[in-house]
Amino acid sequence: GLKKKEVNVLCLGLDNSGKTTIINQLKPSNVCYSPVCTPKIYGFVFSFLFFFVFCFECELTVFFFFQAQAQDIVPTIGFSIEKFRTSSLCFTVFDMSGQGRYRNLWEHYYKEGQAIIFVIDSGDKLRMVVAKEELDTLLNHPDIKHRRIPVLFFANKMDLRDALSAVKVSQLLCLENIKDKPWHICASDAVKGEGLQEGVDWLQDQIR
Ligand code: GTP
Ligand code: MG
Repeated sequence: GLKKKEVNVLCLGLDNSGKTTIINQLKPSNVCYSPVCTPKIYGFVFSFLFFFVFCFECELTVFFFFQAQAQDIVPTIGFSIEKFRTSSLCFTVFDMSGQGRYRNLWEHYYKEGQAIIFVIDSGDKLRMVVAKEELDTLLNHPDIKHRRIPVLFFANKMDLRDALSAVKVSQLLCLENIKDKPWHICASDAVKGEGLQEGVDWLQDQIR
């Protein structure tokens, strides 16, 4: 069939900001492929067949299998690779761990990245400066600095009572200083899945 354009997206941001929750909402795998979920033997066989056909179709790694079994979202160790499709694109997302000790991994994937999703916990006022530092380091990295790659910001956890608005977050991160890249910020609630589609639509428009 028609092959959709493949785009590598880096999903970055501090730990606990909601990156994995966002990616989980976007990927179509809330289906459980684990045989544990299919008690009957036919179900067992079919779930396996379906899984391998699915893997082949989407060129997924075995990595995915282990991720698919984990229903609860836990802090990401290192990174994980996920795929999801939009109407015209096939996104491969590098969901990086935001924990301090893994942040030095990010830069190894900058060259591959064709778009960036940067997630901020809008309720975490104390660490907004840390988020800004990481963003500035990212934007000044030689593999990113002179490239016109789109950056989508999610001001996530907007459901929290004391969450900062997207406008406030963009002021604190000085986003208006980003002149050489298209960027966009969306308020989101990744648990309910609100605000995510708007962001992905914007990203898709930037790449086409
Ligand atoms: P690392 O993998 O450690 O870098 O974290 P992460 O950015 O992937 O965060 P993760 O998706 O694991 O979410 C961290 C916690 O925040 C989880 O308990 C989520 O349920 C919660 N969370 C994520 N998004 C939202 C949101 O929009 N609102 C609220 N209230 N909680 C959220
Ligand atoms: Mg994560």
